[in-house]
Amino acid sequence: MGLFQKKKEIDNNLIIPVHIGIIMDGNGRWAKKRGLPRTAGHTVGAKNFRTITRYCSKIGVKYLTVYAFSTENWKRPQEEVTALMKLFKQYLQEALTDFLEDDIKIKFIGDTTAFNSELQQLIMDTEEVSKNRPGMVLNIAMNYGSRSEIVRAIKNISEKVCNGELKIDDINEKLVSDYLYTAGQPDPDLIIRPSGEYRISNFLLYQSAYAEYVIDNILWPDYSTDDIDRAILEYNSRNRRFGGV
Ligand code: IPE
Ligand code: IPE
Ligand code: MG
Repeated sequence: MGLFQKKKEIDNNLIIPVHIGIIMDGNGRWAKKRGLPRTAGHTVGAKNFRTITRYCSKIGVKYLTVYAFSTENWKRPQEEVTALMKLFKQYLQEALTDFLEDDIKIKFIGDTTAFNSELQQLIMDTEEVSKNRPGMVLNIAMNYGSRSEIVRAIKNISEKVCNGELKIDDINEKLVSDYLYTAGQPDPDLIIRPSGEYRISNFLLYQSAYAEYVIDNILWPDYSTDDIDRAILEYNSRNRRFGGV
């Protein structure tokens, strides 16, 4: 039994956040500490992504959004980007049959047209095979940046205003949400950032207006299911007011 479940036996009021976001950070430092190339950290981090995803689904999280590659990560050395693309390909090939028993539905958020055609095909196939699964929705943020997501929404809304499909007065907070990659999903309740960085790094800016943040000084490859439980317990200790009293 996990830490959360043990506490829940004592306090039945504890809840699981509906939507958790995770900034999977710290792979490079994890590798460096061990005298390994950064890419070795990405390999272990990708493995951990699987463990944590399964765990979140098992404990009843409904939506999990993981930040895998940002619009800014293309700035990294070519060999690191190439190694990451190779890892994504390998994981997506496995994802086609993976997460089946967990009934996880996989969705990609971000501009996936930037990837090579093989990867784009895998992305489409992965979404297609899992689209009717009833379990947790797993959003994988790849070539994702919240600013570019917002710019894309503005362009799409403007186009509709120009061609008369929408009126200016139709634009409200809900409509903007509906033009984001996460359209139709609840906003994240809890955002976890391992690796000790106190920043958002362009992740879910619009959606996280009232999310609770948990920053942990643990590098992503070491981030365990107990750490998820601790983050959820920390979330339960917060008083969410949404601007009220
Ligand atoms: C996160 O780990 C993975 C990606 C951004 C792709 P990092 O590679 O950013 O690891 P650190 O932050 O340099 O340790
Ligand atoms: C954020 O981590 C992106 C992902 C984890 C995919 P970064 O390592 O890119 O963020 P910064 O550069 O530390 O802000
Ligand atoms: Mg980083």
